[in-house]
Amino acid sequence: MTRFKTLLVFAILAIFSTTFIANSQSHSSKKTAAKPTSAATEAKPAAPAVTPEVAKQIFQKRCVVCHGADGKGNKTIAPKAPDFSDAKWQARHKEAVLINAVSNGIGQGKGSMPSWKKVLNEGEIKALVAHVRTFAKKQK
Ligand code: HEC
Repeated sequence: MTRFKTLLVFAILAIFSTTFIANSQSHSSKKTAAKPTSAATEAKPAAPAVTPEVAKQIFQKRCVVCHGADGKGNKTIAPKAPDFSDAKWQARHKEAVLINAVSNGIGQGKGSMPSWKKVLNEGEIKALVAHVRTFAKKQK
């Protein structure tokens, strides 16, 4: 019994020391590796540019269900979804309003506009709003 305990203590110690060593090693290697390349390649890892093409892909994956591929809205699933191809609707809705709507959602429950801020970052949301704008332009 006591022997088992000492073994256990040793095992735990061993695990701790290896993780500690691994951590300190990765820290030091990170520091030395980051220096020469940081300016050129690692400048903006947190906010990669969201191209219109990427925004379109996100829209197709996450928004088309309710808003339709043409942006006119899927009346069966989301009867309240607005018609993005309506230039007048676009004109009435300012940038900040749409960004806020996509970030925080509108209404609640089934068929309402969900909040996306936990799923998408700010850059993605802005790019999606820009994509929403393209539906009206295409119609002309
Ligand atoms: C579950 C269905 C559903 C999904 C998925 C959905 N929407 Fe919506 N969306 C709605 C509904 C319903 C409305 C209208 C809400 C209202 O006016 O009450 C709406 C409204 C909007 C509006 C107009 C906001 C305003 O101020 O009137 C924008 C912009 C929008 N959605 C963008 C998106 C984007 C971008 C995505 C994908 C990331 C998305 N939606 C995904 C249902 C959805």
